[in-house]
Amino acid sequence: MAPRLNYAALLLTVCLFHFNLCKGQAPFLQQKGETTQLIVEGQPFIILGGELGNSSASAAGPMRPIWPKLKAMNLNTVLVPVYWELIESREGAFDLSLPREAITEARRNGLKLVFLWFGSWKNSMSCYAPAWVKLGFEQYPRARDAAGRSQEILSPFSRNVLEADKRAFEQLMRFIRDFDGETGTVLMVQVENEIGMLPSARDHSPLANEAFDKAVPAPLIEYLQQHKAQLAPTLHEAWRANGYKTSGNWEAVFGKGLHTDEIFMAWFYAVFTNEIAEAGKKIYPLPMFVNAALNRPNRKPGEYPSAGPLPHLMDVWKAAGPAIDFLAPDFYNPDFELWCERYARRGNPLFIPEHAFDASVAAKALYAVAQYDALGFSPFAIESTERPGEEPLGKMYALIRQLMPLITARQVQGAIRGALASKAAPETVLQLGRYELNCRHGYTLSWTPGARLDDWPMTSAIIIQTGEDEFYVAGSGIVITFELSVDKNTSVGLLKVEEGRFEGREWKVERHLNGDQTHQGRHLSIPVGEYSIQRVQLYTYK
Ligand code: DGJ
Repeated sequence: MAPRLNYAALLLTVCLFHFNLCKGQAPFLQQKGETTQLIVEGQPFIILGGELGNSSASAAGPMRPIWPKLKAMNLNTVLVPVYWELIESREGAFDLSLPREAITEARRNGLKLVFLWFGSWKNSMSCYAPAWVKLGFEQYPRARDAAGRSQEILSPFSRNVLEADKRAFEQLMRFIRDFDGETGTVLMVQVENEIGMLPSARDHSPLANEAFDKAVPAPLIEYLQQHKAQLAPTLHEAWRANGYKTSGNWEAVFGKGLHTDEIFMAWFYAVFTNEIAEAGKKIYPLPMFVNAALNRPNRKPGEYPSAGPLPHLMDVWKAAGPAIDFLAPDFYNPDFELWCERYARRGNPLFIPEHAFDASVAAKALYAVAQYDALGFSPFAIESTERPGEEPLGKMYALIRQLMPLITARQVQGAIRGALASKAAPETVLQLGRYELNCRHGYTLSWTPGARLDDWPMTSAIIIQTGEDEFYVAGSGIVITFELSVDKNTSVGLLKVEEGRFEGREWKVERHLNGDQTHQGRHLSIPVGEYSIQRVQLYTYK
């Protein structure tokens, strides 16, 4: 008799094989259609993160009470600084005990990590350089302002600075590979932090001045030629206004002015950072990114940190930085959607490593994932909360966690939209399949007590299409009505609305919503202050 195939055993073997295959594999970025996903242990992963305050990971003691708080907020990832001055306080003598402690505790608490390399630059300055670098300013020269005065900013034009930073970074990457390569706790590394020149638009040190008089490097010119039609408008304009030159020094190619100082400086910051990232990836190829302090309107380069990885310099950073996987915005500004649009373009995936930990973060975290396929979101100084179990962010993260398999499967098909609502912008109209969705803030319902408040909390929803007439909607503080996009004479009704949760990939219904909860079949609603997932089936009638 032929042996009977035991399908359960076969499935288990395949799963174990897949698990083991993925286990020793470093997390990586994978482009799927228009979307880039972070793959962790073989599955797409969305970072539900939080970044620690700058000094919180500088000693093991203060970190101990923080880990449970982070778990209580449903984070799956913590962004943790690694300080050059602490891992190499004596030149060439490395102490990796702090990153080791962070990895060990993260594992114990079921969390992943993103390390932030506070190396040569942290918010423009070089405050995290070890004392031997700071004191050795002859060997490790500083950037100078336009008046020739040295700043506490290491010059990116110095080979010594680059080699010293690189050596330390390589040591860190070696350590992560050896200590964590099998387990994959560390998902990505941010190289440096908020790079940018102050108080002048460029470095005016002798090394920098020498580079400024030289020809614009050929790889930048080639990039400009190859991407002429898509260049950021201000860069394109500077190049056009000077006759699209393909040779000459920086002022010959881009004209004289602060904008050229900034382009020049961005190129050399990016070349430096790219070399660090490249060296690190040769040791352990984790995804690597850089973050930017966003410029405010009507400020000149140098009044804001000039030459950082900003949208108007994206081409320069991309041309100089092939080892840098993406540029990321830090949000302490208004205009969330505008800046997200500026970063989520030209194949640059959106990841938000910092956002002020304010009342808007829960809504924005969901919206960034829904509308821009964000790789993740991470408020700054996440440990500062006193009530981690009650944080709206934690409630929103709990929803995104449940939806992660569905989101990552459907985002590739373009079947997801996000709606963000505030008092100033209470309504968004979205198209999804054959439907037009009118999404409004929960307080637009005049009978809710909150409608009369002066301040409305920011709210949001994710809408995922799973069938021609079927959608999952999740979030907080949103009311949605549905119409057919093309045929307004045919009415759309709610056939069925369920509230529930995902257990793994299985949908479990907890309540059947109707009556007051759907305004007697008129709309889908998640009240302000409630966090839920609903499945809605629509139908049409005449
Ligand atoms: C942005 C920086 O990247 C952080 O490290 C921190 O300094 C915050 N600003 C403080 O608001």
